[in-house]
Amino acid sequence: MRVLVTGARGKVGRATVAALQEAGHDVRATDVMPPTFERPGQNEADYFQADLTDAGDAFAVVRGAEAVVHAAAIPEPTRNPPHVVFHNNLMATFNTLEAAIRFGVPRFVNISSETVPGFFFPEREFLPDYVPVDEEHPIQPQDPYATSKHFGEQLMDAAIRRSDIRCISIRPCWVQHEGNYENNLGPQVRDASVLSPNFWSYIDVYDLADAIVLAAESDLSGHEVFYIASPDNVGSRPFEEIVREYYGNDIEIKPLDREDASGISCAKAMRMLGYAPKRSWKDYLDETGRLNPGVTGLFSG
Ligand SMILES: NC(=O)c1ccc[n+]([C@@H]2O[C@H](COP(=O)([O-])OP(=O)(O)OC[C@H]3O[C@@H](n4cnc5c(N)ncnc54)[C@H](O)[C@@H]3O)[C@@H](O)[C@H]2O)c1
Repeated sequence: MRVLVTGARGKVGRATVAALQEAGHDVRATDVMPPTFERPGQNEADYFQADLTDAGDAFAVVRGAEAVVHAAAIPEPTRNPPHVVFHNNLMATFNTLEAAIRFGVPRFVNISSETVPGFFFPEREFLPDYVPVDEEHPIQPQDPYATSKHFGEQLMDAAIRRSDIRCISIRPCWVQHEGNYENNLGPQVRDASVLSPNFWSYIDVYDLADAIVLAAESDLSGHEVFYIASPDNVGSRPFEEIVREYYGNDIEIKPLDREDASGISCAKAMRMLGYAPKRSWKDYLDETGRLNPGVTGLFSG
């Protein structure tokens, strides 16, 4: 398939371009970052600069695609003014989706976020109703990032009402790769009392990219939402024990599919997408949270 990947210069986009190429797809990469105007390297995906908040740019770059993976966004709300985050993310999603509908692109993969239920950046305290959180959890976002992602999912719902496009929203956990595992997760590996809003969950970027390839290739109809998490928790500790120790008895714990379960469930993606995660933080870090020697990949250096 000719697959367009937006946000291709970012963490998720970069790994997704590589995974789609590996799977044999003809990939076009796009981002707001400037091109290099050099002869493309061997196997380098075709690159096109577009600011997707501009409808003209979106229509120019989506034309000809057979599937769109939309990963372009400002990935959190704390480093830009709120209206910039909200406008950028919502309008980029609207324009890219609108172009895909008008050009008859059959498959749209919308990279949403684990934050949609209300995690990570709330101004007022938020705790989930139960853990592991799944796609059935009530949606109560507060901040401009999570609301932009929630509204993005609603745009997918509207798209399948008004056209034949098929949409999948992927909600990744906090994305990790060989270049950031140690900095991001090391402290939590060393000490479970270093809490994260998503109950010690994370996603390996290469497993995420594999899930995105499955979504792009999927023939599921309608609009399905999938959490994509690594199945173990950071530190691989007994989940029930650490929830009780650090959050007390007030929070409901749903049945776990493994003792060291993640705070976010990827069971639906395993069941319906064939998601089969292969990596763990343990492939990158030792038990003191330090990077294992010789770990390399797309993000090394
Ligand atoms: N990193 C995480 O932990 C995480 C977790 C959950 C969801 N996500 C989502 O995954 C997606 C990718 O995030 P990432 O971590 O790769 O972020 P990133 O910042 O590394 O990459 C995002 C890319 O999108 C591009 N972009 C932003 N606005 C654009 C616009 N208007 N037009 C064109 N390109 C634009 C940026 O230039 C950047 O290269 C985002 O949708 C993000 O919200 C990320």
